[in-house]
Amino acid sequence: MDLNNATSEQLIQLEQSLSEQYQQLQALKLNLDLTRGKPSAEQLSLSNALDGILNGDYISKDGTDTRNYGGLEGIIESREMGATVLDMPIENILAQGSSSLTLMYQLMSTAYFFGLTGKQSAWHLAQEVSVICPVPGYDRHFSICEQLGIKMINVPMTSNGPDMDVVESLIKQDSSIRGMWCVPKYSNPTGVVYSDQTVERIAKLGQIAHKDFRVFWDNAYAIHDLSDNPVSLSSIFSACDQANTQDSVLQFASTSKVTLAGAGVAFLGASETNLKGFKAVLGVQTIGPDKTNQLRHARFFEKPESLKAHMKKHAQIIKPRFDSVLAHLEKEFSNTDLGKWESADGGYFISFDTQKGLAKKVVQLAADAGVKLTPAGATFPYGNDPEDSNIRIAPTVPTVKEVDQAMQIFTLCVKLASVQQRL
Ligand SMILES: Cc1ncc(COP(=O)(O)O)c(C=O)c1O
Repeated sequence: MDLNNATSEQLIQLEQSLSEQYQQLQALKLNLDLTRGKPSAEQLSLSNALDGILNGDYISKDGTDTRNYGGLEGIIESREMGATVLDMPIENILAQGSSSLTLMYQLMSTAYFFGLTGKQSAWHLAQEVSVICPVPGYDRHFSICEQLGIKMINVPMTSNGPDMDVVESLIKQDSSIRGMWCVPKYSNPTGVVYSDQTVERIAKLGQIAHKDFRVFWDNAYAIHDLSDNPVSLSSIFSACDQANTQDSVLQFASTSKVTLAGAGVAFLGASETNLKGFKAVLGVQTIGPDKTNQLRHARFFEKPESLKAHMKKHAQIIKPRFDSVLAHLEKEFSNTDLGKWESADGGYFISFDTQKGLAKKVVQLAADAGVKLTPAGATFPYGNDPEDSNIRIAPTVPTVKEVDQAMQIFTLCVKLASVQQRL
């Protein structure tokens, strides 16, 4: 559909035909939902064997009775798992409760209120505190900053990761910058994997940024590949070692989308200095994490290769849903300028950019035709997408048939909104 060269008459005809199709689909009174970035019940069932796996043996391999208090850093088996997922030495890993988001909140609030390297490093001592937010991004990262009163600075995502020219020049100019959010692999929502060069440039930010600057490296989708030959993410830990900026990056991951989203294990990977600063604050908040659940996970993934095999099963379940989304987008919009998207090889999302000023309209049209989408703007700080163009599609929960139906409606809504805009 080339709207640029269409005459007004052609546009009117097209609008009529698309509106008719829209009304027909509306009459079906469907109730479909592409908003939920969570595992489907089928995926959760892959981990049912966690229940009862301990069978009365609660002792971890170093002799810890996991039922009791203590063990702030997490049991050794879980720290080993975190070391594998984050590709870091075990000494740099803490294993905690089910949510990495909680850990991110705790790390950012520790940096803000108490400082990670002593009282003088507390961010709140500065007149203004800002954090760089690659956009579109993960709304819950933005909510943390909003709650702490931290200013957010948008930086556009490219197909290699955040636009590093912009990031570097902001850091050089703006002394209020203390942090940066990153989802380096299968970014939420664009699906982009940061290139080697981007990783290297991020590791070097610690050389030019404020000494209390921290990158929040949220590797939520570190092992969530959909293809057999996934693009690999280069190690930020090694890059920081090379650049001598070990303290500038905090890494996070969890088993939320590996085992159970509400009952998994979360990991922090950080330098010795950062761990010391964080543990001083964490030790006031808790006597220790849920080590029994950590041991369940350790037993569940005891055999070498079992984690990889498990993630393959996830991929088998969700890949057809991603394929359906991509097939619809390609069929309707390749060779047009009506939308842009990245082909996701993993993670939980596909993000779609309409032409400027149409995202809210498309989301509304889809809702009126029975397809729920994440509110337009949610992928930007303060819920404000300045171009009103980004829409996040989360296809893991609906069935393949439902994704297929929902995408028929979605693509029709994009076309209808685009034609109406021209008219
Ligand atoms: C990028 C990203 N980070 C973190 C989370 C939440 O992780 P957790 O369940 O470990 O708190 C999500 C969930 O959607 C996510 O997309």
